[in-house]
Amino acid sequence: MDTRYDAAWRPNIHFTPRKNWMNDPCGLIYWNSEYHLYFQYHPYSNNWGSMHWGHAVSNDLFHWKEKDIALSPDPQTGNIFTGSSVWDKENTCGYFQTSGIAALYTGAIPTNDPAYPLQQQCLAYSTDGCTWEKHADGPVIPNDGSPDFRDPKVIYYEPGKTWVMVVSMGYEVRFYTSANLIHWKHTSSFGKEYGSHQGVWECPELYKFTIDATTVREKWVLLVHSGAGQAPDTSGSQYFVGDFDGREFVPDPESEKESKAADQGFDFHAAQSWSNVESRIIWIGWASHTAYSHDLPTKSWRNMLSLPRELKLMHRGDDYYIAQKPAAEAESLRFRQLNSHRTRLAASTEITYPIRGSNAIELVCTIQKPTTVIITYHFGQRYTAEVQVNNIEQTITIDRSNAGMDIYGNHWRYKRTARIPGIAAGVQRQEPLPVQLFWDNSILEVFAASGLYAATALIFSPNKLEGISVCAENEDALGDINVYELRQTMEFA
Ligand code: FRU
Repeated sequence: MDTRYDAAWRPNIHFTPRKNWMNDPCGLIYWNSEYHLYFQYHPYSNNWGSMHWGHAVSNDLFHWKEKDIALSPDPQTGNIFTGSSVWDKENTCGYFQTSGIAALYTGAIPTNDPAYPLQQQCLAYSTDGCTWEKHADGPVIPNDGSPDFRDPKVIYYEPGKTWVMVVSMGYEVRFYTSANLIHWKHTSSFGKEYGSHQGVWECPELYKFTIDATTVREKWVLLVHSGAGQAPDTSGSQYFVGDFDGREFVPDPESEKESKAADQGFDFHAAQSWSNVESRIIWIGWASHTAYSHDLPTKSWRNMLSLPRELKLMHRGDDYYIAQKPAAEAESLRFRQLNSHRTRLAASTEITYPIRGSNAIELVCTIQKPTTVIITYHFGQRYTAEVQVNNIEQTITIDRSNAGMDIYGNHWRYKRTARIPGIAAGVQRQEPLPVQLFWDNSILEVFAASGLYAATALIFSPNKLEGISVCAENEDALGDINVYELRQTMEFA
């Protein structure tokens, strides 16, 4: 089995485990000066199966060191599905000398129907993030008959001095509170009449954002991902903006009924933020889609995570939108700036950046005029992927139809156009539009308009990237373009 880091399509700065299948990031916590990343992991196969929590640590969110498996299935708890970790500073659960980390996760006990294991919320605890003990008295929230009941996310709600859990159940989420992480009380449910119910709700997140507007000081965002049933046309991540009082989430009137998408691409699922990080919210997603994650052409490894992204909430028009940018640590990965050559075509200018052997490339530029700019990734002579940024309609199209591989059954979608959220339809944009794109061997992430637009797309081509070209009606339409080779951060010791 080829577990080298240069195995085909393996990204250089995005996290993948050394070998085999991964899905959701989970249990994320900053602890003892390290970011701990746990992830849904099948150690014995490149397909989903008996779920464990794999584990890796990093000081900077990009250089990851894989550790031993943190949590493994057992007959009493079942498989270890997604969950979250918190720092139990006051030892409320009673398992520590002074304090430690508690993980709330879904234990999934196999039943006769492989699609519906019995799902219950369980507790494990640790003082170093590596060695975990399971709470021995069974689940902390047993299943009351729901086929889908999973992915507990726990936060500490300071005003009420209480733990709060949000957990998905079918096509809604439930909120629970607890004083000790062991005994939980159901306080409310949200979602039956809100948002999209195309796919079952999974992996909820709940955030408090402090905002700089003068009248409103804080806003809450409830975010869920859509799993089985979600069409492969979108990533299926949706969020609602509103208020939360420790017991119940109430969406703003503007946010009622209609949810907003967190990622405008195809491949961004189950994103989770690191707990215990002060002054910024950083999350990371599973860069894949439930509909075809098993069909990707990689062998020794399968599936990767997105870039870690910092989340903000922005006020636009009458509403709030999340904005995402790659974590600032990404800037230190730039190690060589690439030079271009320019070609004047009949009605446009093409600026080309030849790439020689680098797998991870960042491109940053600003579109100065109301025009369409086309950024093309060239894989050998024949194959391409294209990003069209339309600064008149404020749409961005990602087209992966000509990348040269057609192996994903009928689930894979080739092209997607999305509006930049938060900018009113039909209004011609006068401000310059900054765009930032990251290519990493088989993944493209596009950020635009201060992160109001973020999109993730897996792109597999038989050939390596050999050049990037930027085509605009004239050079005045483009501000400075900077293209950087990025330092590889993922390596095996
Ligand atoms: C999301 C998900 C979660 C579940 C986990 C199982 O991708 O389906 O809802 O906990 O994967 O691996």
